[in-house]
Amino acid sequence: MSKNFKRTLITTALPYANGPVHIGHLAGVYVPADIYARYLRLKGEEVLMIGGSDEHGVPITIKAKNEGITPQDVVDRYHGIIKKSFEDFGITFDIYSRTTSDIHKKTASDIFRTIYDKGGFIEKTSEQYYDEEAKQFLADRYITGTCPHCKNDRAYGDQCEACGTSLNPTDLINPRSTISGSNPVLKETKHWYLPLDQHEAWLRKWILEDHKEWKTNVYGQCKSWLDMGLQPRAVSRDLEWGVPVPVEGAEGKVLYVWFDAPIGYISNTIELLPNDWEKWWKSEDSKIVNFIGKDNIVFHCIVFPAMLKAEGSFQLPENVPANEFLNLEGDKISTSRNWAVWLHEYLEEFPGKQDVLRYVLTANAPETKDNDFTWKDFQARNNNELVAVFGNFVNRALVLTHKYFEGKVPACGALTDYDKSTLAEFSDVKKHVEDYLNIYRFRDALKEAMNLARIGNKYLADMEPWKLAKTDMERVTTVMNISLQITANLAIAFEPFLPFTAAKLRDLLGIASFDWKQLGSTNILAEGAQLKEPILLFEKIEDATIEAQVQKLLDTKKANDEANYKANPIQPNIEFDDFTKLDIRVGTVLECSKVPKADKLLQFKIDDGLETRTIVSGIAQHYKPEELVGKQVCFIANLAPRKLKGIESQGMILSAENNDGSLAVITPEKLVKPGSEVK
Ligand code: MF3
Ligand code: ZN
Repeated sequence: MSKNFKRTLITTALPYANGPVHIGHLAGVYVPADIYARYLRLKGEEVLMIGGSDEHGVPITIKAKNEGITPQDVVDRYHGIIKKSFEDFGITFDIYSRTTSDIHKKTASDIFRTIYDKGGFIEKTSEQYYDEEAKQFLADRYITGTCPHCKNDRAYGDQCEACGTSLNPTDLINPRSTISGSNPVLKETKHWYLPLDQHEAWLRKWILEDHKEWKTNVYGQCKSWLDMGLQPRAVSRDLEWGVPVPVEGAEGKVLYVWFDAPIGYISNTIELLPNDWEKWWKSEDSKIVNFIGKDNIVFHCIVFPAMLKAEGSFQLPENVPANEFLNLEGDKISTSRNWAVWLHEYLEEFPGKQDVLRYVLTANAPETKDNDFTWKDFQARNNNELVAVFGNFVNRALVLTHKYFEGKVPACGALTDYDKSTLAEFSDVKKHVEDYLNIYRFRDALKEAMNLARIGNKYLADMEPWKLAKTDMERVTTVMNISLQITANLAIAFEPFLPFTAAKLRDLLGIASFDWKQLGSTNILAEGAQLKEPILLFEKIEDATIEAQVQKLLDTKKANDEANYKANPIQPNIEFDDFTKLDIRVGTVLECSKVPKADKLLQFKIDDGLETRTIVSGIAQHYKPEELVGKQVCFIANLAPRKLKGIESQGMILSAENNDGSLAVITPEKLVKPGSEVK
């Protein structure tokens, strides 16, 4: 289905303003959206890229409460940090605004009201938990209690984080309000629902039949939602933070954050273009593309379109190229667990290296499945691809031009067959890059652009102009001309992907701006044009730098483990007689040695006050044999003997197990006679 669109409206998911942004945000949404926007602009198309912070919702109110500040303070802080990170990484929003703006509140309110007046909502009364002390209804996250599945007593009203089960607040045993600590009561409350079931038929056709070209991960998720059957969804909440429900009798109720947030795309467009916004949203020749992460798919493909349809005057998105998740060193990125590479921290530690991160995140983007960011891969892609291929080629081209031609572009002479095949190869790059960008396959597009640098690198390595210079200067001029034309092509092809590098290249080549149409041309740079002294575009990243980053993550892990530590639950009670059956004694270690071919076992000879006994114990990974000789240990003396690796073990040495699995052998606090009983 190829429609003739006149302009493209790009929207990017509005990040929650309850924390800074990290590499997962960039990889999932903002880098691909920015590549797409830059590409279309370079082609001279009419494009708008809209962004902003999502500043409502319960997590923001919880954060405010925890820190003793207002929700507005929270969003003011993070909106600023987020906006700056995006600017620093060259994400070219036409506007980056926020959902606490007056225009947004009015727009969201008006859209709700229009749908309401058209009868597009249903009203329903249901019972929800209410805190009688705090005099307010409780959002799911404000209720804790005991998980009915695993008995964790710190489960939330929407989820138990210990066993991962998703819950309803009424599933909790002994629910408590986190606001007052009291036991909440069920109380009736009225809300407005968007009857998604009534929208199901057209949604099915629109997605499943008319948009078969959507990415498979997006299409598949939509299909499974539709196949399960759609239910009415509440679009209001009992909460103080948000856009008030613009209906009489709705005091204390606000629009659900997922109702107001996507309207932010519209209100931010209105803020930017108060007189001209409608053509972007309401005319059929606008192509609307929503860049989002996978957890946002149903809201953008089902709920938001149903809202727009119910309102009646807006266009639906043409595509929703959602990415999957980027993990970090094998674990899910998490703001609350501080498991992330924060963009503002990255820039402090790798100043000026925005493009390296943009490159790695695009080359390894989670386009069709979850992917892993590792510092090793980051280093390898920088050193082996950006430095060794791209940087190396450009540097050689410029240095040699300065060496042989005083930095002036030499003339192109007669072409050999090899020259011709190189030129033919790189003139195909444009089509390949475009074909991939048009279908939102950014990794493949980048690979094609990178191929240009590989072609150039190989060409120089094969031609060896530094050797030719001794015999055939005529050839050197041609070889260098071709190399410089490839360099100019790189500056164009990489403008969407690595804008900082492309700008440096343009500066070196003395060209203010390029047109995408020039990509593939073999004579971009005029003969005699003066080039600047080369600078290095990329630099090698050393092992020590990477190790420091990995160490930082290990430290985070350790801190999290400490913070989450909780001893195992106590075993069921036993009778005193059961206890006295255990004969626990102190013994002195006479000898200790490793058991051959068993990496966990140590063999002990122990003086138990009566004789010398042999005990085999699985603590070899925690102690060296010599550390224990001469020490006193506690052991169970009347455990029936058993054979371990062919050795009869007469008892069991007691140790305490730490939460990280390490062991500490139990010894008496002062020296006692071997054979003393432990009671
Ligand atoms: N704040 C949401 C998130 O980070 C995304 C909102 S996208 C919008 O998951 F459409 F609602 F704007
Ligand atoms: Zn549980």
